[in-house]
Amino acid sequence: MNTFVDTTSVAETRELGRRLGQVLEPGDIIALEGDLGTGKTELVKGIAEALGVTTGVHSPTFVLHHHYQGRVPIEHYDLYRLDGMAWVDTGLDEPAPDAVTVIEWAERAGVLNDWATIRIGLTSKAETRRRLTLLHGPDRIRAVFRAPGD
Ligand SMILES: Nc1ncnc2c1ncn2[C@@H]1O[C@H](COP(=O)(O)OP(=O)(O)OP(=O)(O)O)[C@@H](O)[C@H]1O
Ligand SMILES: [Mg+2]
Repeated sequence: MNTFVDTTSVAETRELGRRLGQVLEPGDIIALEGDLGTGKTELVKGIAEALGVTTGVHSPTFVLHHHYQGRVPIEHYDLYRLDGMAWVDTGLDEPAPDAVTVIEWAERAGVLNDWATIRIGLTSKAETRRRLTLLHGPDRIRAVFRAPGD
């Protein structure tokens, strides 16, 4: 069964990201699936913060990929501009086994849904309300979605 968390502010979305970051492991590949402005990058900021990266996280506008060096390396992709291009044609490598890989607009590169070990869907419910639904993931991730206030 899918579990979801509703957040009512940027701060809450970042906090969920931090809680996810605390249980992520090298090799995890997180697909973030959601429309413009649903909070994908804010979630990544929280994840990165928990992994020791506090600055420089933003949606890569003209590049598809950012690398951050935290306690665990983070590979941050944003495939918004992929626009039907096949992943193999982007020149990007496969997700690294020793890093945490986070992919915004993962649905634009179908192959990533095969690789993703964790899938999170994001939707806007109101101006400042976002719903983050765990579509797929191991128990350590599921636990974060079950008890958002703990
Ligand atoms: N509960 C919330 N959680 C996250 N962001 C929120 C929330 N409420 C309002 N916002 C606003 O929604 C926007 C989310 O921006 P963000 O860059 O994280 O979205 P995104 O999904 O990465 O979009 P894009 O597809 O353009 O990269 C920000 O402007 C933020 O202020
Ligand atoms: Mg973004």
